Amino acid sequence: MGRHLSTFLLLFLFTNSVFSWKKDEFRNCNQTPFCKRARSRKPGSCSLIAYDVSISDGDLVAKLIAKQSSEDISEGQTRPTKPLVLTISAYQDGVMRMKIDEDQSLSPRKKRFEVPDVIEPGFLNKKLWLQRLKEDKSENGPMFVVYLSEGYEAVVRHDPFEVFVREGGENGKKVLSLNSNGLFDFEQLREKEEGEDWHENFRSHTDKRPYGSQSISFDVSFYDADFVYGIPEHATSLALNPTRGPGVEFSEPYRLFNLDVFEYVHDSPFGLYGSIPFMISHGKSRGSSGFFWLNAAEMQIDVLGTGWNDENSSVLMLPSDQKRVDTLWMSEAGVVDAFFFVGPGPKDVVRQYTSVTGAPAMPQLFATAYHQCRWNYRDEEDVFNVDAKFDEHDIPYDVLWLDIEHTDGKKYFTWDRMLFPNPEEMQKKLAGKGRRMVTIVDPHIKRDDSYYIHKEASEKGYYVRDSTGKDFDGWCWPGSSSYLDMLNPEIRSWWAEKFSYENYVGSTPSLYIWNDMNEPSVFNGPEVTMPRDALHYGDVEHRDLHNAYGYYFHMATANGLVKRGDGKDRPFVLSRAFFPGSQRHGAIWTGDNTADWDQLRVSVPMLLTLGLTGISFSGADVGGFFGNPDTELLVRWYQLGAYYPFFRAHAHHDTKRREPWLFGERNTEIIKESIRVRYMLLPYYYTLFREANASGIPVIRPLWMEFPTDEKTFSNDEAFMVGNSILVQGIFTERAKHVDVYLPGDQLWYDMKTGTAYKGGVTHKLEALEESIPSFQRAGTIIPRKDRSRRSSTQMENDPYTLVIALNSSKAAEGELYIDDGKSFEFQQGAYIHRRFTFSNGKLTSTNIASATAAPHKFASHCTIERIIVVGLSPDPKTALVEPGNHKADVERGPLLLRGGPGPSSVLTIRKPNVNIADDWTIAIL
Ligand code: NOJ
Repeated sequence: MGRHLSTFLLLFLFTNSVFSWKKDEFRNCNQTPFCKRARSRKPGSCSLIAYDVSISDGDLVAKLIAKQSSEDISEGQTRPTKPLVLTISAYQDGVMRMKIDEDQSLSPRKKRFEVPDVIEPGFLNKKLWLQRLKEDKSENGPMFVVYLSEGYEAVVRHDPFEVFVREGGENGKKVLSLNSNGLFDFEQLREKEEGEDWHENFRSHTDKRPYGSQSISFDVSFYDADFVYGIPEHATSLALNPTRGPGVEFSEPYRLFNLDVFEYVHDSPFGLYGSIPFMISHGKSRGSSGFFWLNAAEMQIDVLGTGWNDENSSVLMLPSDQKRVDTLWMSEAGVVDAFFFVGPGPKDVVRQYTSVTGAPAMPQLFATAYHQCRWNYRDEEDVFNVDAKFDEHDIPYDVLWLDIEHTDGKKYFTWDRMLFPNPEEMQKKLAGKGRRMVTIVDPHIKRDDSYYIHKEASEKGYYVRDSTGKDFDGWCWPGSSSYLDMLNPEIRSWWAEKFSYENYVGSTPSLYIWNDMNEPSVFNGPEVTMPRDALHYGDVEHRDLHNAYGYYFHMATANGLVKRGDGKDRPFVLSRAFFPGSQRHGAIWTGDNTADWDQLRVSVPMLLTLGLTGISFSGADVGGFFGNPDTELLVRWYQLGAYYPFFRAHAHHDTKRREPWLFGERNTEIIKESIRVRYMLLPYYYTLFREANASGIPVIRPLWMEFPTDEKTFSNDEAFMVGNSILVQGIFTERAKHVDVYLPGDQLWYDMKTGTAYKGGVTHKLEALEESIPSFQRAGTIIPRKDRSRRSSTQMENDPYTLVIALNSSKAAEGELYIDDGKSFEFQQGAYIHRRFTFSNGKLTSTNIASATAAPHKFASHCTIERIIVVGLSPDPKTALVEPGNHKADVERGPLLLRGGPGPSSVLTIRKPNVNIADDWTIAIL
């Protein structure tokens, strides 16, 4: 009893120390020696020159050596002592890779860590063989030029060393460059000198740093750029604010260090749960370019505002006529393994980036519908009640989630049998209505000898070790815990096996998984995480791979779900931590947000940023995790959340219950309506998920991704596009009377509720309605929907479609629909339907756009089209002629587009054309 009480007290103390925002618990740049050193370097201080430049095995290779001036020597600057090796390779579709590492032939103290298992294997086959090295003369000596691809060249300048990509030809404009400001620095591994102390202390923690300083920093410039974006995860604006320079708002760099941060603030460069060191630039004149540094150690990135370097302008080595954004990248360890993406469009850059790190996985259809979560649904009775209430109120939902309290003492893969005596029956009961469940499985393993996972893991030596070589023992939900070493592929396969139905007792095929706390969160560790000197597989230090730990855990879990049963179903795993490539393994959410208006607002740039960096399937806790949202906030959150790619309500255990029916009839109706809108749009969302899966282009997009030359969109992060057809504007203030909506482009936009037309290129001041937030369909597009209201997405499978056609000024429109079985991998073998709908000259035509591998016998659908709504047609048509078959369908004026408002007279509806969704046909309006 006494022992239990003290364990409880300790847990209480730890969780409470985690549960209050304490800035002091986390390091800032000044308390992080490598960051402080890098930031204090003066432009032009890099003394490296590129020499021995040649072509070898299809790559450009060079050595970087220090050109030491007598001044440097008198100032005692000795680094770097040995040459570094630089390698440049070119890949198809405008991707250049650049590596810089120590020279292995000079036997450094250890091989520096390169992150395995992130680069998509197929990418390596796209390598182009560099052949001819051209030497250009410049004022400062030679420049070595290789032809990259698609009219771009890579240039290595000899002195001072600089690498850049430019448009083809000697006077070609620069696109991206590295070390143009001379800030490159590479701390080489060396022996400790006598009397040197390499330890670093932070609060009560000591990092032994057995290899000493090994950081890398350099500047990267993006040319013809107005803004830079990307590098999640931060709760801040979409267009990144400068962190240095005159009048900057943030004085800290953007930090990339996966951390469990309690009550994060809504506008800060502070690093949250995941890290993607990929930045994308955008400007009106040229478009976009991108830069990605594959490195999993702590990183800090400065965006250097105009004038950051004024006092040093004499050392600037750039022609002044090209506009650019300068940035400074700093990492604690690893190597330079950097990718340059030439664009030139934003979609090109995202495609190029995901060709390296992998395309987003295709989710199962159910996962794109609505999820109901709470910490915690207490027991089976609670689960059944919540489930029944959804039906009673006629609100669709697909997934009910169980948080940590469902387990026996936070031992994952177990059930608290008092609360959940029959987990299999419970899942089956929900599955009967086409609904799924999700349970949480975290990476901390309770150190309890009677727990089979712990027993096996400790016997097999599967845990991360502390710096003395013992199993690392940290504190998390279960109390004393150890952490599986997911860097080791053997441990990942062992973990994956734990998800088989035999091993995970009480699991059924309708159960899916939630990976939380995988930064990893360690309540008593430095900065609430694992010490950097902890040791992984191959004696890799935790500092080298920290940001990828959660990625490996997510990967192993997703593999487990693929392997279980007959191995046919696509997995669904939600993860909090992430790294480049996480998009291949499942969905991501933005962690523990708070129920306030600012956090509702910041969810938009956070999710847009994730999409830009490959993670298309993402969401924020609807309602806000901490605190009790007032009714208006909750309702507004549902209205916005219904458009998130991942749509889940979640709440902390200390909050009041907030299921959709608890706020009075009217609010229940409004929430229900927003959830239903999502269900109606599921065919459109699923088509977009497939687009993301095929090309990396995210489901929700910043406006400038669709309107790249419209400057007014560049820093707009209150509105977003869902695909290319829908614009959604959030309402982020209490009791708003009006909302300003900027509608880009020179075409019309149609209010999706009323069909009212609005001009593009104008900011409209609209009345803020209680029952919905503004959403518009872009003229010239066609949106597929399923309008019948059901309990879950599964039950909509055979429902007929509605097409909503919004005509442009030429009375034309087009759109797509992708369909497959919604669950298996068969679509990869061609078992899918992909149609294009085109409307022109008064006629709608459906054509097949599936690739040659798809065939009708592989996947068939018997769904028909029950309704076609056309907006923007003024004559008064009477009937429609359907071919083949030569039959007529009725045409009527109206009705509404979405429920709840009268349709304007320019909306007409073709009733029951009854064509099959998978067939070729035309429907002419007469
Ligand atoms: C932290 C997660 O972010 C939150 O969503 C979850 O409810 C708690 N851990 C408990 O598992």
